[in-house]
Amino acid sequence: MFVKPPSHTRPTLWKGKEKATEEPEFEDLNPTITYRTLFAQNLGVRDPLRVIALCDSDAFYAACEMIRLGIPDKPLVVLQWSSLIAVNYPARKFGITRMMNVQDALQLCPELVVVHVATYKEGEKEPGYWDNPDTKTHKVSLDMYRRESVKMLQLYKEGLPETTEVEKASIDEAFMDLTRPTRQILLERYPYLAQVPDDAPLGLDTPLPPPPQVSWDGLGTVVPIDPSITEELESPSTWHDVALSIAAECMEKVRQHIKAILGYTTSAGIARNKFLAKLCASYRKPMNQSILRNAAIPGYLKPMAFQKIRFLGGKLGKSLASEYDVSTVADLLRISLDEMQSKFGEESIWIYEVLRGIDHTEVKEKQTVNKSMLASKNLPQPVTQLSEGYHWIRVLAAELALRLNEARETTPNLWPKTLVLSARNVKALDSRRSKQAPWPFVKEVTVDVVAAAADKLWRELADPHAPMKIIGLGLAFTGVEGVEVGLKSIDTFFNTSLKPPSKRALEEDVLNTEPEVEAATERTTRNISKESSSFVCSRCGQKLSLPPSATRTEAERQAALALIQMEHDDFHVALELSKVSDNAPSRQTMIGVAPKDKPRKKRRKESPQGIAKFFTKG
Ligand code: CTP
Ligand code: CA
Ligand code: CA
Repeated sequence: MFVKPPSHTRPTLWKGKEKATEEPEFEDLNPTITYRTLFAQNLGVRDPLRVIALCDSDAFYAACEMIRLGIPDKPLVVLQWSSLIAVNYPARKFGITRMMNVQDALQLCPELVVVHVATYKEGEKEPGYWDNPDTKTHKVSLDMYRRESVKMLQLYKEGLPETTEVEKASIDEAFMDLTRPTRQILLERYPYLAQVPDDAPLGLDTPLPPPPQVSWDGLGTVVPIDPSITEELESPSTWHDVALSIAAECMEKVRQHIKAILGYTTSAGIARNKFLAKLCASYRKPMNQSILRNAAIPGYLKPMAFQKIRFLGGKLGKSLASEYDVSTVADLLRISLDEMQSKFGEESIWIYEVLRGIDHTEVKEKQTVNKSMLASKNLPQPVTQLSEGYHWIRVLAAELALRLNEARETTPNLWPKTLVLSARNVKALDSRRSKQAPWPFVKEVTVDVVAAAADKLWRELADPHAPMKIIGLGLAFTGVEGVEVGLKSIDTFFNTSLKPPSKRALEEDVLNTEPEVEAATERTTRNISKESSSFVCSRCGQKLSLPPSATRTEAERQAALALIQMEHDDFHVALELSKVSDNAPSRQTMIGVAPKDKPRKKRRKESPQGIAKFFTKG
């Protein structure tokens, strides 16, 4: 029988959207869910029952070290040279922050455990924890964290229902699209929804009967609808709330699973899209998950300082603040789309949408093939002669060999196509040069083999007769792909010995950037799609493209992209270290969504007035 809804839901049920009680600036907080919506298979990012989670590990590098050392509760920081890069929660209680130097931190907490990240040292195959590592001779290794990250991602996939889409978002976080599994569970739990009742007035287009009242106990922190009221009256649940609560159960389970197996505690945000999931993941940290119901979106976003939103933290945010004399999201909601687009370009539609809690970015697992792997180092003392380069090449070769061999543990037939060496010579006119060579099929990719090939590239690259002041070196494998064994027996490859690099090794023109601050950083293996001549930075969403070329080969394209990527990474490191937030969001202000992915109405290709100028250097 068709159940007649109670009066509070009736307008939603019979008249479509209950606009009168909805915030005018916020759309679709309580969309009508019909049987047709429920049964639809492919509503994608516009599914009104969409549920997305973002799960982030608490004080990740610090947690890795705590577990490695078996000291779960002690205040601990992770050091990279003299800067703190991770502070665990017990240490945060003493007021220690990432921006501090280690001496100040020790003053605040004399019993603080200080761990320097592992480093590569020339002559060692693997990174280690040495006494007094020195940036003049060592190179930071984040391999252990990467390994742990891979394990964690695997557990998300294993611990969540099969139909969940999982996308790695950074070294310690992942997005999950739980729309499909929650839909399935919802239909199992409320089997009466599986069929349109005979007396349903509009057939498939009849709105669903009112949902049960959700009990949020044990499911996490529910963001209040009105933040000014501490004890809220229970507001009626929607079917989207039911979906959120099912997602929250799944997340609670998988987070406990990760804690039990690997020991890491995590914090999650669960909401209707990626942007909101990421934003509310830090609502209560650590060891918590926060649920942002649609009804709570306006109350959550409106009082927020808008510059806390990703990309609105930097130059663009400042510009918005001064243009309109605004500081909160609510202030900015007054600005019409036309007005914003006339001042900030057509593409500012994404700002307009994000301020209203709208984000249609997909959760999509990134391709794991056709990657590049990069090891790079900004040199503390410039290399001024050919002979001084070999030391660093060996250090970079060690990292690259280890990375490839580790990746082969999960994908055994992984082979790189090309080895690329790049150097930044501030004394040369073409300050960034690179050489590359096809990577031969050698049986074992050892440090020696990589270093020997890289040494040859180094001799081609470094001109002993020209002025040399090399301040940065990068060594990369590009086109790393799983080789199909069936195509050609691997044994025939093994018989091929290491050949000298091809004479085709070539130089690439890449963007020149200013020398940046010394740092080794998280350099993740990124995906570069096969055909693309651009890549999108996972940190800031900026798209970087190669100049068009009709003659570029596939290997050249990949090498050139890897180099641009490295430059761009350096740019982030420089920003973070100098704490300049003018050109890109500062790390604290990052929240999930890359604006380039936003669907844009009236999109134009080039906009001189465009938003791009707020994300360019200078
Ligand atoms: N990280 C880094 N440099 C940065 C930002 C992050 O080295 N500029 C490293 C940190 O050491 C950290 C990991 O990347 O452990 C994940 O970063 P993030 O999630 O931002 O911070 P956490 O340390 O995990 O702390 P939180 O609990 O606040 O997430
Ligand atoms: Ca984290
Ligand atoms: Ca993180």
